[in-house]
Amino acid sequence: MNTSEFIAKSIENVVEKASYTWQTPSNIALVKYWGKSNPQIPKNASISFTLNNCHTITTIDFSKKEKSESVDFDLFFEGKQKAEFKPKIADFFKRIQEYCPYILDYTMTIHSQNSFPHSSGIASSASGLSAIAMCLMSLEKEINPNLAEEFINKKASFLARLGSGSASRSVEGPLVVWGTHPEIEGSSDLFGVKFPLKVHSIFKNYQDIILLVDKGEKQVSSTVGHNLMHNHPYAENRFFQANENLTKMATILQGGDIKEFINLVESEALTLHAMMLTSNPYFILMKPNTLKVIQKIWNYREENNSNICFTLDAGANVHVLFPEHEKEAVNEFVKNELAVYCQKNQYICDNVGLGAKEI
Ligand code: DP6
Repeated sequence: MNTSEFIAKSIENVVEKASYTWQTPSNIALVKYWGKSNPQIPKNASISFTLNNCHTITTIDFSKKEKSESVDFDLFFEGKQKAEFKPKIADFFKRIQEYCPYILDYTMTIHSQNSFPHSSGIASSASGLSAIAMCLMSLEKEINPNLAEEFINKKASFLARLGSGSASRSVEGPLVVWGTHPEIEGSSDLFGVKFPLKVHSIFKNYQDIILLVDKGEKQVSSTVGHNLMHNHPYAENRFFQANENLTKMATILQGGDIKEFINLVESEALTLHAMMLTSNPYFILMKPNTLKVIQKIWNYREENNSNICFTLDAGANVHVLFPEHEKEAVNEFVKNELAVYCQKNQYICDNVGLGAKEI
């Protein structure tokens, strides 16, 4: 695999001090990534909607110093120094050093905050790592001003992937594919690409209400879960199926067959969790309220001839997806019938977004 294009070229401008702020989104996968090999190479292609309201805002202050052996940084999360987040970020910097050697020439101070409530169970690694990647690319652009916009996004996604796989899908929007797939032109295991085909209008400004069913720390992290796909009895079939599902999803997104969309999205969510149930050791991330909510969604869809559906990520929270024209009715349904299943009645109304923004 050719990664040499991502190694930063020689320095053209000396930058003594700089500061950049980026807002980058979370994303929700329609066809799921679950299973990887080193270094952060997915076992199958995945596709996600980029979100809009769930995002991270990160500022990095760079200050030039003597080149050092290891990366020198301080990390503040929501105004407070966070020692427990440092090892993950330190690992990330180590992994990307080869591609961004200039980070050894700076002291970095990182300030980060999320738009969603702290410990809401919403994965913040996707938005968190893509935000750091975008800040690094802003510095790289100042050092090497000839970098094209397209390359900046591609390398940001490449870097973000090395921190967290799904973060590779959190640079652009509204739909991003990560993982080599024969029917998606330009797709790669190394970075995410915008879904290149024309999308039917029913999927424009798609809505996502995230029900915060369980805000607790997950008992099994995504990293551990991915690893359990090695030696998993159904792994090979699952990877094959996911790639086939991406082919089907590409057709659905273009043609607008919403019933097929619902079917595929819900099947992907349940298959992801079926992989967890059949891992060794096995584990369950859904909670009783996750199942109650799913049943309510199915009843509502049946009774109201609605097109809502659900998906899940690696946790108990439920994403309720639906077309924009159902917004009013679904908001009422969620408020009146689903909020009771959420911790402190909390849920987040979101919609599809366009990706990272410099602010
Ligand atoms: C279930 O990207 O969190 O959300 O690469 O180990 O950081 P790491 O895993 P992560 O896995 C996300 C898995 C998922 C499905 C998806 O987003 O495609």
